[in-house]
Amino acid sequence: MDNLVVEGGVPLHGAIRVSGAKNAALPILAASLLTEGTCTFRNVPRLRDVETMGALLRIMGAETEIAPPVVTLRGGGVRRPEAPYELVKQMRASVLVLGPLLARFGHAKVSLPGGCAIGARPIDQHLKGLEAMGAEIKLEHGYVVASCPRLRGATIHFDMATVTGTENLMMAAALAKGRTQLVGAAREPEVEELARVLNKMGARIDGAGTDVIHIEGVETLHPVDHAIIADRIEAGTFMCAVAATGGDVLVEGTISEHVEPLAERLRTAGVEIVREETGLRVRSPGARGLRAVDIETAPHPGFPTDMQAQFMALMTLARGTSHVIESVFENRFMHVPELSRMGANIQVRGQSATLTGVDRLSGASVMATDLRASACLVIAGLLAEGETEVLRVYHLDRGYEAIEKKLSPLGARIRRVRGNL
Ligand code: EPU
Repeated sequence: MDNLVVEGGVPLHGAIRVSGAKNAALPILAASLLTEGTCTFRNVPRLRDVETMGALLRIMGAETEIAPPVVTLRGGGVRRPEAPYELVKQMRASVLVLGPLLARFGHAKVSLPGGCAIGARPIDQHLKGLEAMGAEIKLEHGYVVASCPRLRGATIHFDMATVTGTENLMMAAALAKGRTQLVGAAREPEVEELARVLNKMGARIDGAGTDVIHIEGVETLHPVDHAIIADRIEAGTFMCAVAATGGDVLVEGTISEHVEPLAERLRTAGVEIVREETGLRVRSPGARGLRAVDIETAPHPGFPTDMQAQFMALMTLARGTSHVIESVFENRFMHVPELSRMGANIQVRGQSATLTGVDRLSGASVMATDLRASACLVIAGLLAEGETEVLRVYHLDRGYEAIEKKLSPLGARIRRVRGNL
């Protein structure tokens, strides 16, 4: 398994380009199941999760050409509407095929994802919504087995904002008979992007990006050619890296509205962020020159849970004390013991953490069991004195396209090595 070796203490300068959004690409690739023809998607990031989604569509019978940034998919050949445990356990987002399969084939069998490193993460809201649309759902041998000859529109009230839950039901409702209303829907930009693609396919969706989405079901959808939006979490990760090391970097392709909740906190901490024609320029004196600020994660447009770990890396050295509350997932502080091993001063109590800025971090061998925690450790490595080895980069490769190749031209000393662990 590959590891990353990072030598800290170098400010970053130059320009870095943001790839297509992982969490927009995954539901959009699943949406190709709603049509018979060939869809072409552009600006698709080269990530392990994209490969896993490709593998999933392929074993169901879809024809796939996964050559990021271009992916072509033809759902016409799908004969086996089933998502096996072997793939769902590698990637929870596999559950996104449930809505489209049920809508198009009248039945679907999808493995339950089970818990994961950041929490229990049930899918009860997805199932409740599909049942309200007339699906009969059974749980058998670890699988969701759903059937319904034709879904019908319904009004569904979510108990909490769920991103993939909203996406699954939006895709199901696109081909249902009649009108569906999703109340308390997730407002993330990735939900809006999926609605944009579905509408291009001929769906009739409005309100995506707000908490009430209306979908008027149609009989069929047609294939599309679509370029996926930039990844706000990858952009945010680069912004935190520059804020941490100090320097001056243009993060190209960033959609500034999408990163505003993070940008606002960074500005409060003392980072200069300027909108330019091609992206956002980030200038920072480095973490020791920043003020400690508090964050509380929340569904969009709140501070994203997917940026909490990276922001904490920055706060380990900021002056003063910051409080971090993780409100979205119950177990998303796995990076804390690793940051502590590097010298950070952090106390965790339940879902909140208190960080007191220290003078320095020192490089160490560290490991994380989730994607964003791994990104946090890369930033900590860029900040630390000496060498940090981030083990099991495999997690990072799920969501970041060759992070070392993107950061090196900015001056970062970071390289990939083959490890024994
Ligand atoms: N929840 C339920 N029941 C459900 C659905 C969700 O209790 O049926 C709970 C979850 O356990 C969690 C909260 O609701 O506590 C929000 O979860 P959500 O369903 O919104 O998360 P998700 O759709 O599974 C997506 C992203 C995650 C991101 C979250 C929150 C994708 C493929 N994944 O997950 O991304 O953290 O929304 O914004 O879009 C990542 O990229 O690293 C990542 C984990």
